[in-house]
Amino acid sequence: NRKIGEPPLINGWIPYLGKALIFRKDAYKFLLDQQKKFGDIFTVRIAGRYITFIMDPFQYVYIIRNSKQLEFHEFADKMASKTFDYPPLSKGNFPDLKENLHRVYQYLQGKPLDILSDHMMKNLQDIFEWKCSQATDWETEKMYKFCCSVMFEASFVTLYGRVPAADGHKVISEIRDKFIKFDASFPYLAANIPIELLGATKKVRKELIHNFLLQNMTKWLGGSKVVQARQDLFEKYELLGDYDKAAHHFAFLWASVGNTIPATFWAMYYLLRHPEALAAVRDEIDHLLQSTGQKRGPAYDIHLTREQLDNLVYLESALNESLRMCSSSMNIRISQEDFILKLEGNQEFGLRKGDWIALYPQILHMDPEVYEDPKEYKFDRYIENGKKKTTFYKAGRKLKYFLMPFGSGISMCPGRFLAMNEMKMFLFLLLAHFDVELAENKAVRLDNSRMGLGILLPDVDIAFRYKLRS
Ligand code: HEM
Repeated sequence: NRKIGEPPLINGWIPYLGKALIFRKDAYKFLLDQQKKFGDIFTVRIAGRYITFIMDPFQYVYIIRNSKQLEFHEFADKMASKTFDYPPLSKGNFPDLKENLHRVYQYLQGKPLDILSDHMMKNLQDIFEWKCSQATDWETEKMYKFCCSVMFEASFVTLYGRVPAADGHKVISEIRDKFIKFDASFPYLAANIPIELLGATKKVRKELIHNFLLQNMTKWLGGSKVVQARQDLFEKYELLGDYDKAAHHFAFLWASVGNTIPATFWAMYYLLRHPEALAAVRDEIDHLLQSTGQKRGPAYDIHLTREQLDNLVYLESALNESLRMCSSSMNIRISQEDFILKLEGNQEFGLRKGDWIALYPQILHMDPEVYEDPKEYKFDRYIENGKKKTTFYKAGRKLKYFLMPFGSGISMCPGRFLAMNEMKMFLFLLLAHFDVELAENKAVRLDNSRMGLGILLPDVDIAFRYKLRS
């Protein structure tokens, strides 16, 4: 029963499930249809939950800044602890662990970020050299597989360290293959489907977690400060078992590559599909190399400072444009009490304790009023007069939020700066060293099965070829 002042409710005719099936099939289209019928704020019953969607981007700020009545961490803790198999942080057994873990994210910014980025650059170059330096003639590979293999290994070594065994690459690729199997079940786990119903997922997850037991991690060399700080922190909690600590490390690995790999794929795919974009970005890269007196070539010894990475405006714009097109993360908050949500223009809506409030930035990313021809890839959308463009408008009004692949407010991704650097460095090295082109002419579409959960995967893989530039 709706009370006066509550948003319209879309219940669906299936008890409990409500609109879950149609939402899961194509959330983006479903939400647009409801917006046409019910306006910018409505509540949908989905799998037993009441989710109120805020569709107007000018109202986002009222949700994002209200972190007192609209909580995020408890929800995230419930979902992540179940998905990655560690005991919930909020149960009271681990005082301040959540806050302390957040404090550790400082090692993903500032000076530690520069060190991480330097290591990532070196690791990427080692992998490119090991994997690709024989490509004096055209080599063909599948693009998603390639991005996954390079980004997984480079991120793994940067964060957790090098596996010193002679077959170090093999050890990491075995972890990667299991990771891919686990990741395929991720949308089901996130939808609260019991892991026992998901084939071998439970076994694969256990094996993955075992890699992160302390006795294994101590063998890895040159890991990052952020992972070391997490390790030190976990040691302070006696009630956290060895397996639990390992599960936390595994969760962090997932966070660090689960979105970065598909995002790298899309950035590369769109560049190869658009020769004018590829030429402009390569030009910028060549220019930077020339102006800093660095040479591409067999030494694989390119160094980029933070400032230089920041100044690659065409590369950044192309990357942002692909993020705009492939990201679909839902920003969720949970109402902590019955209260009146006050929005712009004296609008007020009643929310009940336990209701979910959701922002769905994919709607904003694809809004033709904000982005002209939103389905078209325009690599220079985020450039104005040769500089980064940060002013976007809807209905003549400037938007505070216009690109949100990394979430918002208290739930914003702490790894966003590293993620952008990693993807820039991957593309930089690829285009600096190789001629690259698509080897198949087929359309790759977004696979919608993880809508609302982050970067969407491609529905099929596609072949590309590369060869060392002369
Ligand atoms: C393109 C790449 C990436 C994207 C699009 C992305 C996106 C996101 C988003 C949307 C969230 C919030 C999730 C939510 O609201 O429930 C998040 C959280 C998180 N991300 Fe990222 N991320 C990326 C890369 C990374 C990297 C490289 C790292 C670490 C090295 C990282 C670490 C994390 C962590 C630890 C959290 C959880 C934060 C918390 O405890 O609240 N992410 N990410």
